[in-house]
Amino acid sequence: MFGVWDKIVNFVKKLEYCMDIFESEIKHLRDELNKHNYNYYVLNAPTISDKEFDDMMKRLEELEAAHKEFADPLSPTMRVGSDLTQGFVQVEHERPMLSLSNTYSIGEVEDFIRRMKSALQGDSNLEIVGEMKFDGTSISIIYEHGRMMRAVTRGDGVRGDDVTVNVKTIRSIPLVLHGNDYPERFEVRGEILMPWKSFDALNKEREYNEEPLLANPRNAAAGTLKTLNPAEVSRRGLDAYFYYLLGDNLPFKTHYESLMAMKRWGFKVSDAVRVMATVEEVKQFIDYWDVERKKLEIATDGLVFKVNDFQQQRFLGSTAKSPRWAIAYKFQAEQALTKLKFVSFETGRMGVITPVANLEPVLLSGTVVKRASLHNEDIIRQLDIHDGDYVYVEKGGEIIPKIVGVDKSKRQEGSRPVEFVKNCPVCGTPLVRNEGEAAWICPNRYGCRPQITGKIEHFVGRKMMNIDGIGEETAEQLYAVGLVKNVADIYDLTDDKLTIVGRIGELTSRRILRGIEASKSVPFERVVYALSIPNVGETVAKKLAFATATMENLMNSTVEELTSIDEIGEIIAENVVAFFKEPRNQEIVRRLNAAGLQMAVSEEAKAAMSDKLAGKSIVISGVFEHHSRDEYKKMIEMNGGKNVSSISKKTDFVFAGANMGPSKLEKAKSLRIPIIGEDEFLKMIGQ
Ligand code: IVH
Repeated sequence: MFGVWDKIVNFVKKLEYCMDIFESEIKHLRDELNKHNYNYYVLNAPTISDKEFDDMMKRLEELEAAHKEFADPLSPTMRVGSDLTQGFVQVEHERPMLSLSNTYSIGEVEDFIRRMKSALQGDSNLEIVGEMKFDGTSISIIYEHGRMMRAVTRGDGVRGDDVTVNVKTIRSIPLVLHGNDYPERFEVRGEILMPWKSFDALNKEREYNEEPLLANPRNAAAGTLKTLNPAEVSRRGLDAYFYYLLGDNLPFKTHYESLMAMKRWGFKVSDAVRVMATVEEVKQFIDYWDVERKKLEIATDGLVFKVNDFQQQRFLGSTAKSPRWAIAYKFQAEQALTKLKFVSFETGRMGVITPVANLEPVLLSGTVVKRASLHNEDIIRQLDIHDGDYVYVEKGGEIIPKIVGVDKSKRQEGSRPVEFVKNCPVCGTPLVRNEGEAAWICPNRYGCRPQITGKIEHFVGRKMMNIDGIGEETAEQLYAVGLVKNVADIYDLTDDKLTIVGRIGELTSRRILRGIEASKSVPFERVVYALSIPNVGETVAKKLAFATATMENLMNSTVEELTSIDEIGEIIAENVVAFFKEPRNQEIVRRLNAAGLQMAVSEEAKAAMSDKLAGKSIVISGVFEHHSRDEYKKMIEMNGGKNVSSISKKTDFVFAGANMGPSKLEKAKSLRIPIIGEDEFLKMIGQ
C-alpha cells in the first residue's frame, strides 16, 4: 500500500520538478528574447544570428502552447500579433496630450529663447534641449511595475483609442522594462514611425496590388496603428522614439535626465538630443540637422526646443493648446535639383510602358533618389523635359519622389525634348495607344519577357495564389531555364526539376512545392485575380467571381452579361471576353482545372451570398462589436450591396457602429439618410 503511495508522491514531486524546470526555461527564454529584441531593434546591434533568435522563439512558443498556466500577455511571442480583429475602445488620457506651437523661422526660435529668459527673470540658468521632431503619430503608454499596461493614440488630445494590442507588436517598444530604478507607475509619450525602408516596401507592395499608395510615412504609421489586424501591424515594421516622461513625483530635475533614464529602461530615445545654453548653439543645431536629417532612416519634419528644467517648465505653464516651454521649428518641404542622366522605358506585367527618369543620385528625406517615375507621355510633354536637363525632385510632404519641374536656365543649347519610344524596349514590338488612354502598350502579350514573368510573379503573390518561395528572381530563373513559361507550368514542377535551377536548394524547393499544394485550396475569386486579366484587379475579380459563380460561366459570359453585373463597365467586360477567347488562355485554365485549383465559389461562400442588399449603396462607419468593419464590408458585398465611402443623396443607409464620426452623423441627418445599427443590419441579412 505504502509502496503505491510513495510512487504517487514521487511522481507528483517529479512532475513539480518538471514544471519548475519548464517555468524557469520559459522565463529564461523570455528574458533572452527581450534582450535580443532590444539589441536588434533599439541598439541596432544584434549579438546573435536570426536563426538562433528564431529557434529560441520557436522553443518558447512550444513551451507556452504546452503550458498555458505560464501564459503572459507580455511575452515576446505576443509580438507577432493575432489575426483576430477587433474595434478599439476610446479612453480618456490621464493628462491631456497637447500640441506644440510651430514656426518655420529661425528668428522666431530666437524670440522664443528671449521670451523664456525674460519670463524666468532672475533665474539665469536657462538650458534648452534640442531634439528631433519625429514625423509619425503620437502615442501615450502607461507602465506599471515595469510592465506595459496601456497604449493610447492622441485622438483629440483628451480621448484616444486604446491600441495596446497593436503597440505590443512593435519590437522596439519594451513590454517589460530593464533595470529596477523605474517609478512604480508612469506615462511615456513618443512617436510611432514607419521607417523609410518599411514605407517604401509597403508602397511597392500596394502598387503591385493596385491599391492606393500611402502618401507619406506619417499617414502610413497612423493608418497601420489603427489597423484592426495586429498580425498585419507586426508585419509592417513600425518603429518608435520616445521624448516625454510624465508621472507623479518623478525623481528627475530635468527633461534631459528623464530622457536618459528612459533610455536606460529600454526605450528608444534619439541620440540627437542636445542640451544648449546659447542662441548661437541653437542656430548651429538647426543648421546641422537641416542637412543631416536627410540621411536619417526615419522621417522628421523639424526640431523641437524645450526648456530643460522641470521647475522652470512648471513655472512657465501651458496654454489650452500647447506648453509655453516648448516650440517646434519646421523644415521647409524638401526639394533637390539634380541632373537627368537619361530616360529609360520599362515594360510592366500588363504591357504598359512606364518612362523612368534616371538621375544623378541625390539625397532626399533620408533616401538616395536615383530614379523617379515620369508616368506617361503626357506628363513628359507637360514638364517639357529635355535630354540632360536639371530637374527638381520632390518628396512633397515627404512622398515618393516625383519630378516637379525643370530648371530651364541650366538647359544646354540645342538639347532635344525627351521622346517617348515607339517600340517595346524589350521585344521591339511597335507600341499601341488606345484612344482616350494615357498609356502606350506593348501588344505582344504572350511573347514579351517582362509580361510573361510579371504574370508569373503576380500569380504566386501573397494576395493571389500565395506560393511561398517564388519571388521576382526565382520567377525570372524558372522562365529563363524554360521550366515555367506560363502559370499552368507551375503545377508541373517537381523537386527534381526545381533543384536543377541554380539558386534553388532543397529547403526552398520543398517550400515551393508545399506552397503549390496549398494554393489548390485558394478560393475561386483569388484564382480569377491571379490570372492577370487586363483591368481586373482584386475588387473586380471578386465581383466577377461572385456574380458568375464558376470559371465555366465566367469564360462563357458575353459583354452584355458582364456589363449587367454591378460596377462592371464595357472596358472591363471586353477585356474579360477577349482574354477567354484566346486559345492560349483557355488551355491555361484547362490545365489549372486539371491541377485541382478552385474553379467555383465555395459552398460556404455561396451559402453566405444573397441579394438581400441588391442595389443598395451603404456607408459603413464607426467601431463594431460582433464583427470587424472589414468583415461587415465583405458581408455587404456578399449580399449584393455596394460599399461607398462618403454619404450623399444616393446613399441608401448608413451602417453605424460606436463612435461614428460627428461630421458623418450630421451629414446623414441633414440628408435624412437612415442610420441603422449592428443588430438591425444582421437581421437584415438574415443572421
Ligand atoms: S513634445 C506637450 N517632442 O509633435 C508637448 N513632440 O506638434 C509634447 N512630436 O503631438 C510633445 N517629435 O506627436 C514632442 N521630440 C518631440 C516630438 C514631438 C514629434 C510630435 C508629437 C506632438 C506633435 C506636436
